[in-house]
Amino acid sequence: MPIIQVPTYPDEAELKAVEQELSSYPPLVFAGEARNLKSQLGDVALGNGFLLQGGDCAESFAEFHPNNIRDTFRVLLQMAVVLTFAASCPVVKVGRLAGQFAKPRSSDTETKDGVELPSYRGDIINGIDFTADARIPDPKRMLRAFSQSAATLNLLRAFAQGGYANLMSVHKWNLNFVTQSGAGERYRELADRIGESLSFMQACGINPGEVRQLQGTDFYTSHEALLLGYEQALTRVDSTSGDWYDTSAHMLWVGDRTRQTDGAHLEFLRGVANPLASKVGPTTDPDDLIRLIDILNPDNEAGRLTLITRFGADKVEEYLPRILRKVKSEGRHVVWSCDPMHGNTLSAAGGLKTRPFERILQEVKQVFACHKAEGTYAGGIHLELTGQNVTECTGGAAAITEDGLSSRYHTHCDPRLNANQAIELAFLVAGALKEERDAMASVAAE
Ligand code: PEP
Ligand code: CO
Repeated sequence: MPIIQVPTYPDEAELKAVEQELSSYPPLVFAGEARNLKSQLGDVALGNGFLLQGGDCAESFAEFHPNNIRDTFRVLLQMAVVLTFAASCPVVKVGRLAGQFAKPRSSDTETKDGVELPSYRGDIINGIDFTADARIPDPKRMLRAFSQSAATLNLLRAFAQGGYANLMSVHKWNLNFVTQSGAGERYRELADRIGESLSFMQACGINPGEVRQLQGTDFYTSHEALLLGYEQALTRVDSTSGDWYDTSAHMLWVGDRTRQTDGAHLEFLRGVANPLASKVGPTTDPDDLIRLIDILNPDNEAGRLTLITRFGADKVEEYLPRILRKVKSEGRHVVWSCDPMHGNTLSAAGGLKTRPFERILQEVKQVFACHKAEGTYAGGIHLELTGQNVTECTGGAAAITEDGLSSRYHTHCDPRLNANQAIELAFLVAGALKEERDAMASVAAE
């Protein structure tokens, strides 16, 4: 099948040797976990839950540090608590983590001061430095990405089940720089109420410290399945079901640039039994989308496929309704998730890529309104975020300006929400979700 957005490696023999080595490594995730996630997403597709997916645009070797992993995990936990409590809704937590390394690019080359070099394609492929040497695709980077993913996942598993995520610690998840902000203050108030609920349960004779569901949380991983050689090397037959699973992550998605129905990326993904997602953007034709659904989810299984819509605040009202109508009229079960990041990227005055926080909020609000009008369920949010106090997206309570972007701009690709902006957004989503679910409940009661 035609394949795009993958590099040409100068040494084919070395590439084969690396892929061979990877294919002998242990799986990063187990098929049973991917099945559990698919079943939880099945509940979301039917309106009984909400998908929270987020993390870096691109993980990098340079930013690999336990504090970064902890802080991203922590902000996702905080957001999940806000959504669960404020909207009384179970939240499925999926990180863009432990494998989100490969990046599609709109241009094969990049020009700076008259020098043209191959584009940076993510640390799993080449280096970000603007030198001819760094930009040569190096297969050995896949081995490093694998080991970083394994170590990241190991820590995430420990955080999720080893006590850190215990709901009794709900106050401790607030990061120092968040405590002083409006979002931090709202979070503290909500944590106080959860604390009161837990004390009340205790007074009634239920010890929250002994309730398994409160002691830890399920936490899953995902990334864009872009570098198919890497994905294929980690694809194995599950001995219990006999099905193929891509064991590089629980959930894989196909990006906006590689979702062609006659292309290699769909051909690969349709063969693995993991829960899958596809981006849906302004260039998505509704009939073509049905063909994509036929390929990725021929049995119309709820939970198998998530559609991540990313139009931009200025385009969503024009494009989303007819997509929702088409999928609904064809009776397809999907999780509808909103990515308010990728349609709202622009160049700031100083040349840095940014995303105005107001536009991100605007797209989220419009997406909920479109679903309401079409009678479909807005069931998820897909974000690029970090727990660090970065200045990459303008706006938010701290009012980051275009001039202020360069002070803590660390992303290896697209601008991410910082922890304050992420929590502020979580409160907005929680409000919209509560309204959506209250309306569903009143329809059900009629
Ligand atoms: C991404 O999620 O980082 C990305 C590249 O998105 P899209 O494929 O929607 O442009
Ligand atoms: Co991105």
